[in-house]
Amino acid sequence: MFARLHEDILSVKERDPAARSSFEVFFCYPGLHAIWFHRISHWFWTREFFFLGRLMSHLGRFFTGIEIHPGATIGRRLFIDHGMGVVIGETAEIGNDVTIYHGVTLGGVSLEKKKRHPTIEDNVVIGSGAKVLGPFTVKEGAKIGSNSVVVKEVPANATVVGIPGRAVMAAEKPKEKSDFEHGTLPDPEAKAISCLFDQIRELERKYSELAAEHAALRSKVDSTR
Ligand SMILES: CC(C)(COP(=O)(O)OP(=O)(O)OC[C@H]1O[C@@H](n2cnc3c(N)ncnc32)[C@H](O)[C@@H]1OP(=O)(O)O)[C@@H](O)C(=O)NCCC(=O)NCCS
Repeated sequence: MFARLHEDILSVKERDPAARSSFEVFFCYPGLHAIWFHRISHWFWTREFFFLGRLMSHLGRFFTGIEIHPGATIGRRLFIDHGMGVVIGETAEIGNDVTIYHGVTLGGVSLEKKKRHPTIEDNVVIGSGAKVLGPFTVKEGAKIGSNSVVVKEVPANATVVGIPGRAVMAAEKPKEKSDFEHGTLPDPEAKAISCLFDQIRELERKYSELAAEHAALRSKVDSTR
């Protein structure tokens, strides 16, 4: 148990440059407290003590502002930064080393009692305020931009932004870091192709607007003859 607590604290220190000491992380990180509450509530839930599970989850929400349904499955080293307003639904599944910022919802769009929340694979980052809605998978290493609304599957290592969420970076395998690299470099070719596609879409949109205006003017001119 202490090894797991230590692992949780280390995962926060690795991913939050503002974290100064293990002592501070232990006492002042609601994202961690919410996960500890969830471990207890999930323990009750999986042993069919449903009320106690809900009660623990409710207490966790009261103290942290983070609502995690006791039925949700959470892997190791989840880091919920800031936390307030995070909602994680009953059938959500979260892999290892996932990072979630405040205001994120892993929600459902169906009222049926079946898998209705997303599956988040390892190393995914979900930006503040993003909503991920439905029973699809956000694949390994994907990034979801702040305030996006994602409603369908996200490929591995893709970056998705906007409403509805669209991939802005081509899915690609993360490169092995060499001695000369200090971080992940963006792929300039993928970025250039993505920009070209955006421009083509914009031109198509402008062309159809102009064609519609032209047709309207033409019919006006024809009717005045
Ligand atoms: C999406 C994100 C993970 C960055 O991923 P990335 O792969 O490094 O992507 P980039 O920053 O290169 O951005 C790619 C493109 O998406 C755009 N973009 C990034 N985030 C966006 C967002 N939330 N909404 C709309 N567009 C966004 C960028 O402007 C860029 O567009 P461009 O190519 O036309 O210049 C990051 O922007 C983000 O939202 N992180 C969450 C951080 C957060 O919530 N912090 C809260 C701390 S309190």
